[in-house]
Amino acid sequence: MSILKSKPVILTGDRTTGPLHLGHYVGSLKSRVTLQHSHEQFLLLADTQALTDNADDPAKVQRNVLEVALDYLAVGIDPDVTTICVQSALPALAELTMLYLNFVTVARLERNPTIKTEILLRGFERDVPAGFLCYPVSQAADITGFKATIVPVGEDQAPLIEQTNEIVRRVNRQIGRDLLSEATAMIPKVGRLPGIDGKAKMSKSLGNAIPLSASADEIRTAVRQMYTDPNHLRAADPGRVEGNVVFTYFDAFCGDQAAVADLKARYRAGGLGDMVVKRQLEDVLQALLAPIRERRAHYAADAGYVLDKLRQGTARARARTEETLDEVREALGLFRFAGDAAA
Ligand code: TRP
Repeated sequence: MSILKSKPVILTGDRTTGPLHLGHYVGSLKSRVTLQHSHEQFLLLADTQALTDNADDPAKVQRNVLEVALDYLAVGIDPDVTTICVQSALPALAELTMLYLNFVTVARLERNPTIKTEILLRGFERDVPAGFLCYPVSQAADITGFKATIVPVGEDQAPLIEQTNEIVRRVNRQIGRDLLSEATAMIPKVGRLPGIDGKAKMSKSLGNAIPLSASADEIRTAVRQMYTDPNHLRAADPGRVEGNVVFTYFDAFCGDQAAVADLKARYRAGGLGDMVVKRQLEDVLQALLAPIRERRAHYAADAGYVLDKLRQGTARARARTEETLDEVREALGLFRFAGDAAA
């Protein structure tokens, strides 16, 4: 890459509501470790966004800023390569949100498919917090604030990128030039990882997740509990591989595809018991998670180092987001005291 051409900017983030799990790992964290070298990558610890549906438990949101940061470092995200930053410590994002709120209608937010589904899931009905209804606008501020053009998110978040781009076009039209850039959602090719109970989504709140920090015993217990083929009662019987969580996890985590294909064939034919395949899957997961758990413990014992890296990352992020805010304020022609410096 030419030194004159800067790397494309990636922004992604996580709500700080709990430690990350295997679903985050396959869907997102693994690729962030690779992307950090080919892109300029920012990772946002989205504590402000987490508050939009956790206002009754700010302590949880705050506590998990460090937990999620530890997960990042544990999987191999390098804080000197990737900028890791804390959303609530970036006031420029809040101010951009305030400005963008005027370029979107309540009706449009209520039609946003992600928001619609999430309101239903949380049972908010008409009592949806205004902050929650508006979090797509705050996410648009995140994305444009960092000048990100690539946003790796799960498929369920794609409407938020569309919403961002609508705001970008609307603001650009108002100011008469393309100050803000549209972003592209980068959707992972691998499907969503089901929970150990076979439910569509792995989630801490559903109690079907394997956290990245799981102990060896917790991993063993989780694999033992895994949903398989309910009709596969005796080892000698033929078993179903489709919808069988053990095999879904083999596909997601076992590098040796030929071995997995062989195991599937033997399971289908009959003669392979659940305990045997579960023991093999456990080996795969233990091997994957042991080094992650060790690195996590190493960083957890050195919170001073982690906080230093977060402070440095947040300072870099502050510079970037304040620059964007100044440009937007200037372009919209907001009031400025004579003598106050423009950006
Ligand atoms: N909405 C994302 C989630 O729930 C978190 C997030 C906040 C985010 N700001 C972002 C993702 C900006 C991508 C870009 O996981």
